[in-house]
Amino acid sequence: MTPLIDPFARAISYLRVSVTDRCDFRCTYCMSEHMTFLPKADLLSLEELDRLCSTFVRMGVQKLRITGGEPLVRKGILTFFEAMSRHLQSGDLKELTLTTNGSQLAKFAQPLADLGLRRINVSLDTLAPAKFAEITRWGRLPQVLDGIQAAKAAGLRVKINAVALKGFNEDELFPLIDWCAREDHDLTFIEVMPMGEDMTANRLDQYWPLKDLRARLADRFTLTDLTERTGGPARYVRIEETGQKVGFITPLTHNFCESCNRVRLTCTGELYMCLGQEDMADLRAPLRANPDDAALELAIRAAIARKPKGHDFDYSRQAVKGQMTRHMSHTGG
Ligand code: GTP
Ligand code: 5AD
Ligand code: SF4
Repeated sequence: MTPLIDPFARAISYLRVSVTDRCDFRCTYCMSEHMTFLPKADLLSLEELDRLCSTFVRMGVQKLRITGGEPLVRKGILTFFEAMSRHLQSGDLKELTLTTNGSQLAKFAQPLADLGLRRINVSLDTLAPAKFAEITRWGRLPQVLDGIQAAKAAGLRVKINAVALKGFNEDELFPLIDWCAREDHDLTFIEVMPMGEDMTANRLDQYWPLKDLRARLADRFTLTDLTERTGGPARYVRIEETGQKVGFITPLTHNFCESCNRVRLTCTGELYMCLGQEDMADLRAPLRANPDDAALELAIRAAIARKPKGHDFDYSRQAVKGQMTRHMSHTGG
C-alpha cells in the first residue's frame, strides 16, 4: 500500500491514540479541576479502536503510542494491548508503547511487559510529595513511585517526562537528574504548551525555556549532543559524568515540526493532524458506515493530505500565541 506522506513530504509512521479522555489526576497544566468528560456512549469501542489502529498499521504506521487521559483507567485496556501486540508479532509494528501517569502501573506493568512492551513514558514533574499533590491535584506520589518500581521490576525501560515549570520544579533539576541516574531511568523535559482554556497569564509565568535549563546543566556537567532519535520530538544529550541520557522537547524554543512523523487519534475517532492546530478529521463516521475499510482509508489519506506545516505556539513578546482551547487530555500530548 502507498505509504502516508503529507504535503511537506513527511512520512507518517507514528500514531498516538488517546483511548480515554478520563484521568485519575487533574494536572493543572492539562485539565481544569472540574472537567466535563465525554459521554461514554460517544467513545469508540475497543474493537473499533482496533480496526482503526490496524488500518493505520496497514497504511505504514510503525509506532503506536497509547495515551489518554490516563490510558490505564480505560476498562478492558489490556484486551486492547493484547490485540495490538499481534502487529508486533507480525513485525508490522516496530514499537507498541504507552504514556502514563504511573498510578496504575503496579497492576499493569507485568502484563504489559508480557505483551511485548519494552519502553514506557511516565509523567513525573517533582519528587516532593506535597508538590506532586499540588500539581496533579488528585495524585499521590508514593503510588506513582510504586508503579515505576513495578515497571522496572517487569523489565520495562522507563522514560520520565517532566514538564519544566518555572518556580515549581526549577529547584529540582539536579535532584531529578540524580534520581534518574540512580534508578537508571531516561529523563525528558518538556516546555509547557498553551493548551486548555483561559490560562494565558499563568502559562507565561510558568514557562521555563529549556535553553535556560540546558545552560544550567552545562554549568555542572559535560553535555554531548546525541544524534539518536526515538521517533518522538525529543533531542537528547548524554551527561558524560553520569552516562545518562536527557531529552528536551522544545515546542517553544525550537520548533521540531519539520521532522514531524505523527498524527493523533482521540477516543471518539477524531484524527488531529497536529497537536497545535484545531483541524481534525472525523474517522468514526466512515468507520461505522462501512463494514470494510476502503472509505476509512480514503478518509485517512484525505486527512493526511491537509496536515499543516506546524503549530503556532509562541510566547515571545510577552504574549501567548497559538493557544489551543482543547485540553491536552483530549489528544494525549
Ligand atoms: P518517545 O520519543 O518515543 O519517548 O516519545 P514521545 O516523546 O513522542 O512521546 P511522549 O508521550 O513522551 O511525548 C512527550 C510529550 O511531547 C507529549 O506529551 C507532548 O507534550 C510532546 N509532544 C509529542 N509530540 C509532539 C508534537 O508533535 N508536537 C508538540 N508540540 N508536542 C509534542
Ligand atoms: N504542556 C506540556 N506538556 C504537557 N503535558 C500535559 N499538558 C501539557 C502542557 N500543557 C504532558 C504531560 C505528559 C504528556 C502526556 O503531556 O506531562 O507527560
Ligand atoms: Fe492526567 Fe496526564 Fe493530564 Fe495529568 S497530564 S491530568 S496525569 S492526562
